[in-house]
Amino acid sequence: MKIYEMNNDERLDYLLKNKYLNAEQVEFLKSQQPLSQDIANSLSENQIGIFALPYGFATDFLINGQDFVVPMVIEEPSVIAAASNAAKRIKASGGFTVETAQHIMYGQIVLENGTADKIDILNKAKEDILKLARAAHPSLIKRGGDVVSARFELVDDCIEVKIGVDTLDAMGANMVNSILEQVAPYVSEMIGSTILCSILSNSGVSQVVKVSAAVDFEQLKTKTMSGQKVAERIVKLTEFSKFSKMRAITHNKGIMNGVDAVLLATGNDFRAEEAAAHSYFIENGNYAPFSDWKIVDGKLIGTLEMPIEVGTVGGAIRTMPMAQLSLAMMKVKSSQELQAVIGSVGLANNLSALRALVTTGIQAGHMSLQSKSLAVSAGATGDEINKISKIMNQSKKYTLAEAKRLLENLRNG
Ligand code: MEV
Repeated sequence: MKIYEMNNDERLDYLLKNKYLNAEQVEFLKSQQPLSQDIANSLSENQIGIFALPYGFATDFLINGQDFVVPMVIEEPSVIAAASNAAKRIKASGGFTVETAQHIMYGQIVLENGTADKIDILNKAKEDILKLARAAHPSLIKRGGDVVSARFELVDDCIEVKIGVDTLDAMGANMVNSILEQVAPYVSEMIGSTILCSILSNSGVSQVVKVSAAVDFEQLKTKTMSGQKVAERIVKLTEFSKFSKMRAITHNKGIMNGVDAVLLATGNDFRAEEAAAHSYFIENGNYAPFSDWKIVDGKLIGTLEMPIEVGTVGGAIRTMPMAQLSLAMMKVKSSQELQAVIGSVGLANNLSALRALVTTGIQAGHMSLQSKSLAVSAGATGDEINKISKIMNQSKKYTLAEAKRLLENLRNG
């Protein structure tokens, strides 16, 4: 049986049997208590409830030779289907190859009244500043992390002290901010400049992930179009997005569909990631697509290069049981491994979207998945939902009025 045809219990059995989850984790999911009141209250001010979103998983991710199922939190019905569908096609073609870099997070101390002389003073004191920064977070150094760089620059009429920290598997926001706040008074006194602010940068330039996949034409064909034709049209649409900012934004939104869903499932900061990803592509003044598709040696080659700012330890990730469960489901052992999974999901969602756009169009798949939520909006419950969805998928009449009419017919026999 296909996973999307299973009910919730059968899906949980699948995860248990295939050792993606253990019995305790399955029981936890069945209990439908994802967040205790105490944890919720500790994570947010003025907390009055828990806002739930659907939690599911995508299958068939073969990444650097290793198999993954990927937990995703998303309210858009087609996103998990799209990720799994493309992952399967890519797996059949050899899988994803991903390169990640050392996990460096930068932070800025901004000081007023900058001059070239003050920059000279700071440069001479660089080793002392690095020493103080390392002493500000001894546990990070003990675990093998480091303060890897300190740079001083005149920016407008201010001085920027830019500190780079290898935060290991933590996203690193709190770590970097506390290091900066301890270093700032020292440098301020040294050069006689007032501190304007001390804060990490979400630029993500040192957390860039490179994903690639070579897709066989055979994997791209539809009932009415050859795989080669589909590949050519995907390349054409990608080229178009390099010239059309309007299209590039939507192309990238399709990538973020997958990226954000895994960030949410793992308790990561999706706002930081959105800021990092979209700014990375305007270095030269032009906004560009995050991925590229080309035909090389009879295959469709997809590449994606983007910063992915994540952690697997610390902060909300440690506190939220569902985030822990997601990490356990993927068996990721480091932030780099999580970056590799997230980048691959981004490229998979992108391929599915492009393949649909250049063939049947997006609405065919979208609406058939949306039919269930239309049925629920019409008031259907239990078995009624699948029955109404099935009829709508046959008639292709996807409106709330139609769902209400079908429900009435069903209930009145
Ligand atoms: C919809 O959520 C995402 C797409 O619009 C992405 C794209 O157009 O590439 C289908």
